[in-house]
Amino acid sequence: MFTSSMRSTSSVFLALSALALEGLAATYNIDTTYIGTDFLNSWTHETLLDPTGGRVTYVDQATALADNLTYANGDTLIMRCDDTTVLSADGPGRNSVRIKSNAQYTTHVTIFDIRHMPQGCATWPAAWETDDTDWPDAGEVDVIEGVNDQTPNTISVHVGSTCSMPSSRDESGTPGSNNCDVNTDGNSGCGVSNPTDNSYGPDFNSAGGGWYAMERTSSVINVWFWTRTNGGVPSDVSSAASSIDTSNWGQPVGYFPNTDCDIGSVFGANNIIFDLTLCGNWAGLSSVYSAAGCPGDCVDYVNNNPSAFSEAYWDVASVIVYT
Ligand SMILES: *[C@@H]1O[C@H](CO)[C@@H](O)[C@H](O)[C@H]1NC(C)=O
Repeated sequence: MFTSSMRSTSSVFLALSALALEGLAATYNIDTTYIGTDFLNSWTHETLLDPTGGRVTYVDQATALADNLTYANGDTLIMRCDDTTVLSADGPGRNSVRIKSNAQYTTHVTIFDIRHMPQGCATWPAAWETDDTDWPDAGEVDVIEGVNDQTPNTISVHVGSTCSMPSSRDESGTPGSNNCDVNTDGNSGCGVSNPTDNSYGPDFNSAGGGWYAMERTSSVINVWFWTRTNGGVPSDVSSAASSIDTSNWGQPVGYFPNTDCDIGSVFGANNIIFDLTLCGNWAGLSSVYSAAGCPGDCVDYVNNNPSAFSEAYWDVASVIVYT
């Protein structure tokens, strides 16, 4: 016989053990801290031809430092594109920077503390994770990405096999497509728009930037955002605590569960990447570029207006990885 007091005892026990499991799964310890010159020593400036067809030339670290496109000092990392050179129409693209962490990560949390992101017509900045030598099979998570100063930020997942998101997700962002498979969705991704304009571009910058955090487990990907000044950032995030508990961080902006996607198998080990391209096959689409109120033709604008890129820089306070 099962009495009501036994039932309540056993459900309390079940609730407690579920809580304990959840608590365990959401607690991470600091693995790597990247600040200032760590980005020179433990990351690589990639010199590949921009895969998105942008009007940029990605330079190596020696060139980036010599031209002050990359500047690392104290708790500051600046990465920008050239903002002084007029380009010839048939010459190479505007010098810019793309860096990736040498280390790769599977289950982890990455916290990006960013003060400023590239802004301006033609800009297409991204802070993201993938293995660009094994794309799309290693998967891709775009934590910060957008074009031509158009807010809000888009958080997106792209993978190389069947994977979709449920039509209703427990997140504060607004979902676009639910299909994450690059083979069947034209690589548009199963993205989510942040609810606030201060998540991206000029509004992000005038608020002093903020923190993005991405949690990846074998069953879910979550992304949170806290603007610099809203007071809502969890203390373990703002203090760069030695251990963090994502279960205290509230509803994520982007929630990518394994309901119809085997998160554990559609992702490999990923590097962390920052880049800044210009124009290319998103920012430079004439419809997208003009709809943003940007002048003339994207490539002409990049070639002829170097000073338009004076705000096209990343200012990164830190990237911290927890495992
Ligand atoms: C390089 O860039 C940094 C950051 O913007 C700036 O503080 C510094 O003055 C620049 N150095 C030179 C030599 O221009």
